[in-house]
Formats: sequence, structure tokens, C-alpha cells
Amino acid sequence: MQTTKPTYTTLAEIYDAVMKDVDYDIWADFIDEVIQVHHPDPVTILELACGTASLSLSLEKLGCYDITATDKSEAMTQKAIEKARKQQASIALKQIDFLDISLDQSFDIIVSIFDSINYLQNREEILQMFNQVKKVMDANSLFIFDFTTPKNSIQAIDYLDNEEDTTENGYHFFRKSRYDANQQIHYNTFEINKLADDGATILESFTEEHRQRVYTFKQMQDIVDETDFRMVAAYNEFDLDKATNDSLRITMVLRCPDIQS
Ligand SMILES: C[S@@+](CC[C@H](N)C(=O)[O-])C[C@H]1O[C@@H](n2cnc3c(N)ncnc32)[C@H](O)[C@@H]1O
Repeated sequence: MQTTKPTYTTLAEIYDAVMKDVDYDIWADFIDEVIQVHHPDPVTILELACGTASLSLSLEKLGCYDITATDKSEAMTQKAIEKARKQQASIALKQIDFLDISLDQSFDIIVSIFDSINYLQNREEILQMFNQVKKVMDANSLFIFDFTTPKNSIQAIDYLDNEEDTTENGYHFFRKSRYDANQQIHYNTFEINKLADDGATILESFTEEHRQRVYTFKQMQDIVDETDFRMVAAYNEFDLDKATNDSLRITMVLRCPDIQS
């Protein structure tokens, strides 16, 4: 029997295996480059939707940041805590929903990567998140986040759909991926089986349905224009080239200059 689970519960068990080809050190170098270009004296970083904290752990290795990493999912946060402990990293970890941030300090940098914002289903939710992020910013703070575009979803189906693997910690996963171009919704369904020691017998079976809304560059810019945030830059992929309407992943850099400290 398959048990349907909320997103990022069972997936937490295999998240790092699913992401094994993602080079977070390179991603951290890119984020560090963006930070150094746009902030005069960056020290504190708040990561939102950190997952298992791979980005924050890579940023910490750079040796110049004081990092707090957060995620809404209890299971992902727990994995992040275990990973940070194993690596003897000195990042703080907290379970926080980015739609309801209550922290009594501001940060120089607020960052969220790897499509996490695409879990916000519409303009209203993005505006809600921006309002929450504003609470932990000062006039120099940067809000850096990426999002994926319809073009990315159309291309990604080829390698995401029917992806399967067996992980070292005894799970098998199978992913179905489809894109609804009319609604701009990307669906990923994970079937995750916990295997017995023989590596074949299925002990338990879980399903997680992930629904992400993708946004064009213009749609995201229009949402930003409705807010007090100002777009400092928008980058294509993982270097300092400007984003265009053809970009697959766009990293936005925003500031909120009118915030009173
Ligand atoms: C694709 S994963 C990216 C994780 C991580 N940023 C990385 O690079 O591996 C999306 C993450 O967003 C988190 N997430 C989704 N909605 C969230 C919310 N409202 N508040 C905080 N985290 C959220 C999920 O729990 C998940 O860990």
C-alpha cells in the first residue's frame, strides 16, 4: 500500500541522493560573487528554504559569513542539522516557513535557491513572502533568490520524467514529471520505496506530489514592481550575465531602500 505524504517528508531521506550531481560549492561561489558585487560589507546571511543546507554549508567554508539556514520542512531541517553536526559546521539551523518569518534581527543577505520560490503558486503568495522577507532586512540588505521559467520546465521534462535510482541508505525512488504549459505548473511525483536489507523487498511505499508554479522573467519583474523592492540585478544561470526572456533559471537581486533601520 502506498502512503501519500506531504512534500519533503520521505523525500528528505533521499534528497541528497537525488541531488548528487548538483555542485553546491560552485553554486556557493556564484552566490558569493553576487554578494560581493552588490553589498558593501556582508557578514550575516539568512538562507530560506535551505533544504538539507548544502548551500549554507558550502558558503560557510568560504569563512567570511555568519549563517542562519532555515526550512519549513521538519524532516529537511532535521537532515540539515545532522549534516551540519557531522561537518562540525557552525551555522545556525531553524525550522521556519518563509511565509511567516519571525526573527528579531536583520540580515545583510537573505538568500533562497534552487526553485524554492517556485513552490509559491501565485502573485499573492510571492507578495506575502516578500513582505515577510522585508521584516528581516535593512536598507543595505540584499534579497537574492532564483526561480525557473516555462522554458526550463519544457526542457527539464526530458531528464526528470521517469528518473529512478536506488540510494545508499536503502530506498528506491521513481519520479514522474509533467508540465502544464497553460497553467504554468510543473508537477513532480515521487514514488519512494523503503527496501529491506536484500535490496529488493519493499518494506514501505510512499508518494509525494510536488506542484511548482513557473514564472516568466516578465511576470516576476511585474510582481517586483508592485512592491517596495528594487531590482538591483537579474542573472542568467550561474554567472554574472544578465537574464533574458530566454533564461532557464534567473537569479534576482533585490534591495528595499526605503526600509528604516
Ligand atoms: C527544491 S528544494 C531546495 C532546497 C535547497 N534550497 C537546495 O538548494 O537544495 C525546495 C525547498 O523549499 C522548501 N520550502 C517549500 N516551501 C517553503 C516555505 N513556505 N517556507 C520554507 N521552505 C519552504 C522545501 O521544504 C524544500 O526544502
